[in-house]
Amino acid sequence: MSESSESYVERFRRQMDLMQFETLPLFSRPLFSWNLHTDYVGRRLIYRPSTESTMDDARRALQRWRVTSGAVFLAESQTAGRGRAGRHWVSPPDVNLYFTLMLYPLPAGLQPLAHVTPLAAAEAIEAVAARRGASLKADLKWPNDVLLDGRKVAGVLVEGATGPEGQEAALAGVGVNVNLESRDYPEIAGIATSVREALGFNVERELVLAAFCDRFEALYEAAAAGSRAPFEAWRRRLVTLGRDVVASGGGRELRGRAVDVTGDGALVIQTPDGRRTTVEAGDVTISGP
Ligand code: BTN
Repeated sequence: MSESSESYVERFRRQMDLMQFETLPLFSRPLFSWNLHTDYVGRRLIYRPSTESTMDDARRALQRWRVTSGAVFLAESQTAGRGRAGRHWVSPPDVNLYFTLMLYPLPAGLQPLAHVTPLAAAEAIEAVAARRGASLKADLKWPNDVLLDGRKVAGVLVEGATGPEGQEAALAGVGVNVNLESRDYPEIAGIATSVREALGFNVERELVLAAFCDRFEALYEAAAAGSRAPFEAWRRRLVTLGRDVVASGGGRELRGRAVDVTGDGALVIQTPDGRRTTVEAGDVTISGP
C-alpha cells in the first residue's frame, strides 16, 4: 500500500507498530475528534494525564467556570478513582478509559442516565469490535455494570450536581477496561475483564470514547423526547432478570429471584414466600440459575 492511500488510523497504527508499543501510549485527541459525530457530547474534551478522580474534576469545573453541557473530563490515570458504594476503581495509565460526562440542564432529569449510560457503553464496545471485524456481545447487570462473558468490563457512577445558574446537572462517570490485563490486578482479577481480553487484540481507546459519545447522545436525546426505547433496550440486555440473586445495600440483604424491573428502573425481587420487593439501589450478586 502506498502511504498516500493509508487512512489516518492505519498510519497511526502502523507508526505505533513500528515503535513496538504494546498499547497505544497517550490518548490521541485528533483520532477521537475524527471519529466523533455528535452535536454536543464530547465536543469539549478536558484531558489530564493524571488526576484523583474525573468526578471531582468535573464537579469543580462546574462550580468554578462555565463548561458547556456535554463536556467530557478524561484522565489517563486516576489516583483515587471511585466506584459505587465508595469502592476503589482500578485506574492504571495508558490502557483504559476513565471519564466523566457533564450534562445540564437535564430535560428528562437524572433518571434516564442510569440506563442510557451503561447502554451507551455496551453499544460502543460492540460497535468498535464490529469495526475491527470482530463480534462481541455486551450484557448489563443491574443496575449499571457492563459485562463481557460474565465479567465486568465497564462501570458507571452517576452523581447529581448543580449547574452554573443553579439548575440541575449530572455527572456521568464511566470506567471502561479497554486494553487492561486484568490478571495484573489481583483485586479485580477474578471478576473483571477488558475489551482486549475478550477480543484477543488491542483496540483504540479513542474509538471507544467516540462511539460512547455518539451512542450516548442519541439515546439521551431519545429518552428526553419521551421515547421508552432506550429503557427497553437496557432492560433487554439485563442478565439479572430471571436469575436467583442476593441484593445488598444499607446493611440489609435480600435473597430471591429477580423477576422484573419497574418503569423507573428499580429491581423487583420475588422471595421464596412469593412476596415481591422493589429494590431501588444497591448491589446485586447473581447466586444461582
Ligand atoms: C462502578 O461500577 O462501581 C462505577 C465505576 C465508575 C468508575 C469511573 S472511572 C471515571 C469516573 N471517575 C471516578 O472516580 N469514577 C468514575
